[in-house]
Formats: sequence, structure tokens, C-alpha cells
Amino acid sequence: MNIRPRRNRKSESIRKLVQETHVSTNDFIFPLFLLEGGNDKVEVDSMPGIYRLGLDHMLKEIEECLKLGVHAFDVFPVVPEHYKDTTATKSYDSNFFYQKALRRIKSEFPDATIMTDVALDPYNSDGHDGIVKDGKILNDETLEVLGKQALSQAECGIDIIGPSDMMDGRVEYIRDVLDAHGHQEVSIMSYTAKYASAFYGPFRDALDSAPKAGDKKTYQMNPANQHEALIEADLDTAEGADFLMVKPAFAYLDVIKLLKDNYSLPIAAYNVSGEYAMLKAASQKGWLDYDKVMAETLMSIKRAGADLILTYHAKEFAQL
Ligand code: PBG
Repeated sequence: MNIRPRRNRKSESIRKLVQETHVSTNDFIFPLFLLEGGNDKVEVDSMPGIYRLGLDHMLKEIEECLKLGVHAFDVFPVVPEHYKDTTATKSYDSNFFYQKALRRIKSEFPDATIMTDVALDPYNSDGHDGIVKDGKILNDETLEVLGKQALSQAECGIDIIGPSDMMDGRVEYIRDVLDAHGHQEVSIMSYTAKYASAFYGPFRDALDSAPKAGDKKTYQMNPANQHEALIEADLDTAEGADFLMVKPAFAYLDVIKLLKDNYSLPIAAYNVSGEYAMLKAASQKGWLDYDKVMAETLMSIKRAGADLILTYHAKEFAQL
């Protein structure tokens, strides 16, 4: 036999030369959870190592991450129950603690990329991503609130708006609102193929944002469907998205590959809370080597075709 693939695996040096995929801190967006006030720091029970942070702690965290080479962050607010209502009015209140914190973060770290989520669930007393009426999630009425929310975030100097709600037509609607107010430079990273997944459980613990009734299956996609992602990606491309995202990531590598093969826009993957929690839990039991499975997971997501990854592992990977 004269064809011997093992020749290209024979030393660390040769393996490095032929390595096809590389992961670096440049690829990451690190999700952070913001608490009202400055001084609290509370670990998320189902996400060991991930904290809900008051603004002072968050500024320190961002500074530390920047030194490690992580330069992009997605900031989510933990909204106390008494602020929530049925039309998510706090989501577009420029004097709310979240908007104030975003302005502060951007002024302290103008060169970092700051992304925000556009969806009603953290602010909605029903816990859904859209306005609920008679048990139904309303689409077009929700768009109006999403537009106001996106504008209020853009006014804080945010770099990337991330519509995560899966309402129809939201990218175009938000693009129009932003452009009409002079925010042509603000990017939109659409949650293009966001599945109705049970892997979001720990995130909903962190934000206390689980739906009060029903589930999200009338707007988030059926985990059984792959080609439906092409419909969403066609729409988001036509509507003016700057990035297409697949979420979750590790359980949906086929969808990442499908979008990468069919679209020219950068593909983002959201390595979600439940995926993080699995690796942490198994390693705490001594069943998996955390550093190794983390690196392998992130590598696999990139190998499947992701250009960038939203991941709770960002800081730990950078520390390795
Ligand atoms: C809000 C939102 C969710 C996540 C990101 N934005 C939860 C959901 O849709 O229920 C999940 C992130 C994660 O699990 O890490 N629309």
C-alpha cells in the first residue's frame, strides 16, 4: 500500500501544518448577564462559572476579557419581575438600567463590539418573545415593539442588533426603523434558524424569562426541520441581515453546514446555555476533561462552517 494517510499525522509539527480548522478568541462573542445596580455578582446555578453581574462587575469582566483577546460581547438584562408588563414597555425605555449600562459600557470600551438581543421575553410578563393575546403570539403588533427596542439600543451606541424572536418580517422592519433614524451603520445579526430547543433552559434560569404558559413552537423552528432553515435564510438575506445565525450550535451542526454552503453572509452559531451546562456538569463529576471537550466542541462548530461563535466558554478558552 503506497497511500498512507498516517504520514500526515506522524508528528505534532506535521499535524499543525495540515490542520484545516482553527479556533481563536477572534471568533467569539461572549454573552453576559447584567443585573440592575452595581455590586452584585450571582452565579447561575445551572451554569457554573457564569455569573449575573452588576454594572461594576461587568465593566471589570469586559476589561479582563479584552486583555485575554475576547473583544465582542452580547449583553442580556436580568429584568426584575416588577418591571415586566404585557407589552414589554421597559424594552424601549432609554432611562432603564439596561440602556444606561449599555451607554456606559460603550463609552468605557468604544473599540469592543457590543451586541444586544431584540426580543420581548425578558421584559414581557407572559415570558414570550412576542405580545400575547388570547393565548396567541401576535406577529405584526410585536414588530412595532421590536422596532422601538432596536432603536433604543442603537441610540446607546450598540454595534450589532440581534433579533432573536423569530417573528416574520422582523429584520426588514428593524432595518427600516434604524435607517429612518440615521443608524445605517448598526449591523443586524439575525437569529435565522432558531429552533424550539430544550437547550435554552439554563439561560431562562439566568434571566428568569421562561414562558408563563405554553411553549415557543409557534415561532421558533421545529428541531426536525433542516430545509426550512433555507426559507428563513432567504428572507433574512433579502431583508438586509448582515449575519445569519444558527441556534443551538452543537446539536445543529448540519444546519450550520447547510447555511455555510448556500449563503455568502457570515454564519454565526450560538453555542447555547444547555450545551455549556452539559460539559460543565459532566466535568464536575469527573466524567469528561472540560478543557479538552470545550476545545473540541468549539472546533467542531467551526469545522461545520461557523465563522463566529456566541459561546459561554469564551473567557475560559482564552485563559487556556
Ligand atoms: C431570547 C433568547 C433566548 C436565548 C437567547 N435569546 C431564549 C429563548 O429564546 O427562549 C437562549 C440563549 C441560551 O440558551 O444560551 N429570545
